Amino acid sequence: MIRTSIDLESLREMLEQGASVTVLDVRPEDQRTEWRIPGSVHFDAYGALKAKDPNAMKGAELPEGQPVVTVCSAGNSSAVAAEQLRDRGFKAYTLEGEMKAWSMAWNTAEVSVAGTGARVIQVRRTGKGCLSYLVGSGGEAAVIDASLDPGVYIDLAERYGWKITCVLDTHVHADHLSRSRGLAELFGATPHMPEGSPVSYAFSALGNGDEIRIGSARLEAVLTPGHTPESMSYLLEGRAIFTGDTLFLSTVGRPDLEATPEAAREKAHALFGSVRRLLDLAPHTLVLPGHTSEPVHFDGKPICAPLLKVHEEVKQLLEDEDRFVEKVAGRLTPTPENYERIVELNRAGEEPEGDPTELEAGANRCAVRLRRLSGFGHPNPA
Ligand SMILES: [Fe+2]
Repeated sequence: MIRTSIDLESLREMLEQGASVTVLDVRPEDQRTEWRIPGSVHFDAYGALKAKDPNAMKGAELPEGQPVVTVCSAGNSSAVAAEQLRDRGFKAYTLEGEMKAWSMAWNTAEVSVAGTGARVIQVRRTGKGCLSYLVGSGGEAAVIDASLDPGVYIDLAERYGWKITCVLDTHVHADHLSRSRGLAELFGATPHMPEGSPVSYAFSALGNGDEIRIGSARLEAVLTPGHTPESMSYLLEGRAIFTGDTLFLSTVGRPDLEATPEAAREKAHALFGSVRRLLDLAPHTLVLPGHTSEPVHFDGKPICAPLLKVHEEVKQLLEDEDRFVEKVAGRLTPTPENYERIVELNRAGEEPEGDPTELEAGANRCAVRLRRLSGFGHPNPA
């Protein structure tokens, strides 16, 4: 029997290993703009495929001699596309679970943090842009903002010779289900959360200035409210800072989720103060954010930047507090899909019944989109 589909892990491994494969996205342009598989080729034949036009894929020019994986949202169009490509002699497959499955694809990059006894691995959910971290030292590791199946972090830690001893989140997330509680439970550990986190499960509270030791390395909690009231950043020995959704590489987190317009303005004022304080850290402190706005390529390049570069990017936004509040507090961009349900589950520390990708599918929308907010021509909206 001819194989007509490929599972996510097989495709993920092919991309990680740099194998020759064409990922062909047959969704309409607007869906692709929302999110896409990095390096994928676009051929908008959606209408023709849906109509089962036998010539729908006729104009698709693809590299000969390498497999093609077709993707769409629901699976019907990609199946028709793959079949037509097979008729043309290609080894063509559909991706099992389609774009929803892609939501769980991930890759890693090692972050070089000079002057610390720690190694930092950035774990990227490439479709959603969620960034989590393993910080390892002396055979131990901490996991920050786990957004993938706990097994991913356990396997990675093993690969580096670490035992996970500590699990922590920067805040209660709205765009993805936190896997921190589940991961900590596997070790009989209590997850660390910022003091005052509105969660109903037991956690070990971290207040401003508290420290966590991982081997010979130290993580210091730095309170940075705004995106959420409890948001905490974690400073690694004064050399790198995990900023969660408070500060990204070229924009800031949105303060308007779960807030009335008035509350959003209050949170925006807090965010202004938090970002200002972060920018007072040493200029070469490496900023390691909780999200990125672009699909993450399988290139092993960490998504990070020294604070002075980030400062350059957000400088204009931070010139005036009132103007900042005006810009970031409005509900001007779409909210993350299903975010109220995701927050509810994260507060309870529970997983949804059934497939979590049903809830989490879609683009990341945790950042302020500066380009759309007029006045700041920004290169990297999120
Ligand atoms: Fe967030």
